[in-house]
Amino acid sequence: MAASGGSGRQWQEEVAAVVVVGSCMTDLVSLTSRLPKTGETIHGYKFFIGFGGKGANQCVQAARLGAKTSMVCKVGKDSFGNDYIENLKQNDISTEFTYQTKDAATGTASIIVNSEVKTLFNPAPAIADLDPRFYTLSDVFCCNESEAEILTSLTVSSPADAGKAALVLMERGCQVVVITLGAEGCVVVSQTEPAPKHIPTNKVKAVDTTGAGDSFVGALAFYLAYYPNLSLEEMLKRSNFIAAVSVQAAGTQASYPYKKDLLLDLF
Ligand SMILES: Nc1ncnc2c1ncn2[C@@H]1O[C@H](COP(=O)(O)OP(=O)(O)OP(=O)(O)O)[C@@H](O)[C@H]1O
Ligand SMILES: *[C@@H]1O[C@H](CO)[C@@H](O)[C@H](O)[C@H]1NC(C)=O
Ligand SMILES: *[C@@H]1O[C@H](CO)[C@@H](O)[C@H](O)[C@H]1NC(C)=O
Repeated sequence: MAASGGSGRQWQEEVAAVVVVGSCMTDLVSLTSRLPKTGETIHGYKFFIGFGGKGANQCVQAARLGAKTSMVCKVGKDSFGNDYIENLKQNDISTEFTYQTKDAATGTASIIVNSEVKTLFNPAPAIADLDPRFYTLSDVFCCNESEAEILTSLTVSSPADAGKAALVLMERGCQVVVITLGAEGCVVVSQTEPAPKHIPTNKVKAVDTTGAGDSFVGALAFYLAYYPNLSLEEMLKRSNFIAAVSVQAAGTQASYPYKKDLLLDLF
């Protein structure tokens, strides 16, 4: 992205500090009392369309915290695709690299990349035989408990287990591994601090935890890009806090807080 000279510099021309490569998905949500049997038609009591996709969720959370963001993805050439592009614009996300295609697009893993921004890799959905280069090329490798289990074949159900799994991922060449643990916060291991460290979070009353992981990853990308001098532990404490806010309201992107709604000491 080239920035033009002169004083009339617009945000679209500014270089994005957080670039997300990942999926944009439209969620079609029907609320029903029970699941239908095969071939059965049942009544639902509510229907709504939501914006989702792990890549876009992370991008929206980073943008709402004030990051200049760009979403690299492909959506269909259809009304959902048009609406999604509008949603990205509404969130002040650059759509310069958001493409539309007549073929269906699928999201697999999401990667956050920029030449100056560190590479934060979220291996979702996880596959056991992940290309080994993803470990060595990520500055921060961040996954949840079940992804850590798939990647390491270890059971991960406590901070101590997560520490062991993180050490296995470190042996594959990661510089920093973060494993999120829901209400238990997260565990981190890094080359500079090789002993696993548990970063707990405040217990909150969870209303809807959908998308908590993406809120966490988006917040971490924001801190890596905008507060590089913060210690990793401090970034993780703040990301825990922001993800905890997101679980206290319903919806995925709908529950992601904006900077204006958060305590000033997070910035
Ligand atoms: N009940 C909770 N109370 C407080 N914080 C929570 C809670 N659930 C999740 N979090 C926060 O969100 C982060 C990510 O949660 P989690 O490990 O469940 O991710 P995830 O499994 O990828 O989420 P999801 O798949 O639901 O989007 C945690 O590290 C924590 O900071
Ligand atoms: C971890 O993330 C995956 C998506 O890759 C999701 O399917 C799974 O439910 C999450 N695990 C937990 C423990 O929340
Ligand atoms: C980060 O630290 C470096 C070196 O200590 C300093 O030069 C720089 O101004 C700091 N940046 C910010 C954003 O605080």
